[in-house]
Amino acid sequence: MKRVLLGISGGIAAYKSAELVRLLRTNNYDVRVVMTHAATQFITPLTLQALSGHAVHTQLLDANEENAMGHINLARWAELFLIAPASANCMAKLSLGIADDLLSTLYLAAECPVYIAPAMNQAMWSKPVTQENLNRLIHHQVSMIGPDAGSQACGEIGYGRMSEPSDIVAQLNALNAPQLLLNKKILISAGPTREALDPVRYITNRSSGKMGYALAQQAQLLGAEVTLISGPVQLAAPKNIHTLYVESAEEMYAAVMQQVSGQDIFISAAAVADYTPESVPTEKIKKQGTHTQLSLRKTQDIVASVASLMNKPFTVGFAAETHHLEQYALDKLQRKNLDMIAANWVGRAEGGFDSAYNALQVYWQNGQKTFTMTDKNQLASQLLTLIAERLNA
Ligand code: C5P
Repeated sequence: MKRVLLGISGGIAAYKSAELVRLLRTNNYDVRVVMTHAATQFITPLTLQALSGHAVHTQLLDANEENAMGHINLARWAELFLIAPASANCMAKLSLGIADDLLSTLYLAAECPVYIAPAMNQAMWSKPVTQENLNRLIHHQVSMIGPDAGSQACGEIGYGRMSEPSDIVAQLNALNAPQLLLNKKILISAGPTREALDPVRYITNRSSGKMGYALAQQAQLLGAEVTLISGPVQLAAPKNIHTLYVESAEEMYAAVMQQVSGQDIFISAAAVADYTPESVPTEKIKKQGTHTQLSLRKTQDIVASVASLMNKPFTVGFAAETHHLEQYALDKLQRKNLDMIAANWVGRAEGGFDSAYNALQVYWQNGQKTFTMTDKNQLASQLLTLIAERLNA
């Protein structure tokens, strides 16, 4: 758990700090909050105390607070110092080394990396003196997060909006993740496929694509160059990831085969249809009689085809099972010539298809590992760490 000191200065964007603290905690950061006097006019220390789970620091010269954790100790405690929002006044003080309150004093005392998310009116942001302060801070190795452009609390439009808390946390994650997959190319398939029965109907399955999308995002955080091949899902397009959309198993096969050369890793997280209609009429099938029959043929096995290539990437399959998890998973590992298989139960109350949570039992030649129930982002990061380990083994 990474220790982050969050400094909040006085600006209307301070109302977003509550969400920021909550997100930092769900992303596994231990958060301590320090506020300027002006910040306490916008959001109460009590709110941030409740969300961070720790007393909030506001005073430089307060005997009680210095007793609990003095400012030097607080600066030493921090592994990251994030200042969000950073007002124009706050940036000006930090850039000149003025230390006249707790937040600015902590900045001087901190030896950890410092990140600043500016927030101010667009005219204040573009003022030459603010830009000089900004350049001075960058020169002092402070990293900037934002600001974004858009509508502002004052009714104006332009640069100066604080980045959204989710973007701030995503950037912190990206900047602090160990680069275990740096320079690795990774291809990931995700989601279900749709097999057309006629122009209006199709066969599909309950896969949501969440696991594959989480793997793509986490792989990118670990430094990999990611290509995602996605079946039809209800998820937002992942940011800055090369994503190709397909519908049927046949299209997914073609896309994977087209992208696979030069990849270091292939993770087949998609729930590919095993069977597809023999033929697809161009006209809608009409209702007739009390029963009907479908004639299905087997689809090509994508992951097995990748694993049989001459220069095959490190190939990982998934096995979603309602029974005999270990036996079926081990059988697939051998039969499909995979380097690793991640097996999970489906059809149970918790986890699996369509859930944000899952647990995995992972097998490879002569080894296995259990990942207990957790959210799919966390799980994806654990699985990728194991893949990186096995890849280098
Ligand atoms: O044989 P089964 O479908 O249970 O195997 C699951 C694994 O095989 C998953 O990794 C899935 O993505 C992959 N698969 C595939 N092509 C298919 C069927 C499954 O790549 N046609």
